[in-house]
Amino acid sequence: MARELRRGKGVLEVDEARLREVWEKQKEGKGLIGGDPRRRPRWVHPIPPEPAPWFRLGQSSPEHRARLVRFLTEAPAEIEIGAGSGHFILDWAERHPGRHFLAFEVRWKFANKIYKKMMRRGITNLWVSDDDARATIPEVVPDESIEVFHILMPDPWWRPKHQAKRIFSPWFVDVLARKLKPGGILRFETDVEGYPEFVERLIAEHPLFVGHDPSLAERFADATPTLRQQWCMERGIPIFRRYFRKKEER
Ligand SMILES: C[S@@+](CC[C@H](N)C(=O)[O-])C[C@H]1O[C@@H](n2cnc3c(N)ncnc32)[C@H](O)[C@@H]1O
Repeated sequence: MARELRRGKGVLEVDEARLREVWEKQKEGKGLIGGDPRRRPRWVHPIPPEPAPWFRLGQSSPEHRARLVRFLTEAPAEIEIGAGSGHFILDWAERHPGRHFLAFEVRWKFANKIYKKMMRRGITNLWVSDDDARATIPEVVPDESIEVFHILMPDPWWRPKHQAKRIFSPWFVDVLARKLKPGGILRFETDVEGYPEFVERLIAEHPLFVGHDPSLAERFADATPTLRQQWCMERGIPIFRRYFRKKEER
């Protein structure tokens, strides 16, 4: 597994001009991983039949979508974007039975792994989705419904021509702000130098967020590390952690 984990160049490059261009187009689906799921024909990878807790934007029925919305609103809800093999979210969901969780992992193989593990472990407060979270969250998740977004060790997408795939952009930060409850938290962790500053700048530009609050670290101090975090910790690679709160009032 370790062979698959690389540090890339180790420094994040930002091509402002190109980013501005792609951010404008992202709302229409450009840069979505696997393409825009709204326009995607039937996907080759099978998903369990409804009402199994798996959501796919292009294929789930309106009833299933309503089921997911109910699930997200009937208990305090948290969403992880880019859950990988689920090391963090499976334990976190298991240890917080009174809360509801949704894990996005666009790579079907990993999403399926998370699904199988949650079934085996009898975890009932977690849904998975193999959609690009940037397509599904704006359309499906109700405004002001989420207490915490976890974005842990996201792909940096180093090369300027791949920057459209980066999870953080001004419009997606705005989506996260709208979906968070007042006082809700955006938890972001990375080992990529330059990425914290990049995200902090986007957050500073958004009127609904307050800057990094290190005191929020305590709330997640006992969280199980993700696979990538374990890999970093074994090698003494520092992990930068940022916690942004949505303002209580507009
Ligand atoms: C670098 S890996 C980190 C995985 C895990 N969080 C960890 O720390 O081990 C980033 C993961 O996010 C997923 N991903 C990237 N962009 C995504 C998106 N827009 N929606 C859902 N998943 C995404 C990728 O498929 C990949 O598995």
